[in-house]
Amino acid sequence: MKPFELEPEELTEPVRQQIEAVLQAHAFDRTDLVSILLGVEAAMERRYISRPVAYYVADRLGLRPTQVYDVISFYTALHDKPRAKFPLQICDSAPCRVNGSESLYEMLRAILGIDLGEVTYDGRFTIEKVPCFGACDRAPAVRVNGVIYGSLTTRERVLAMLRELD
Ligand code: FES
Repeated sequence: MKPFELEPEELTEPVRQQIEAVLQAHAFDRTDLVSILLGVEAAMERRYISRPVAYYVADRLGLRPTQVYDVISFYTALHDKPRAKFPLQICDSAPCRVNGSESLYEMLRAILGIDLGEVTYDGRFTIEKVPCFGACDRAPAVRVNGVIYGSLTTRERVLAMLRELD
């Protein structure tokens, strides 16, 4: 007997296929759960792992849903609430703060009209502060869905970066 039942409307076929693609890329290896969940989250429109998605992954890997939720709640890189399509992650580590990450944060706040963790009205952008993501030599930088945009020292460069995300 299956450990859970999903309401059919909770998981659309395209979403199911996206999850399956990630699972297959990891050979359904449950020891790869963190990487699988990161991949699944990145594939979701609102960049988070919804309840039906978490349950589906658990079922396909032969895990209990609580095991999946343990991982989601442990890793700050994983989310169980809807985010923006483009989460703008600013490095909050000391080297980047020295090199302008706070000014970049203020610029993004002013341009987008949102505070930390808020989502723009159209669901496109949110601003997040995260630890070093290895772009220290390109500070101030943001990471958006795994892609780094560096040297964002002027309003013009920030606007160009945002336009590129369209
Ligand atoms: Fe900011 Fe490394 S210290 S990216």
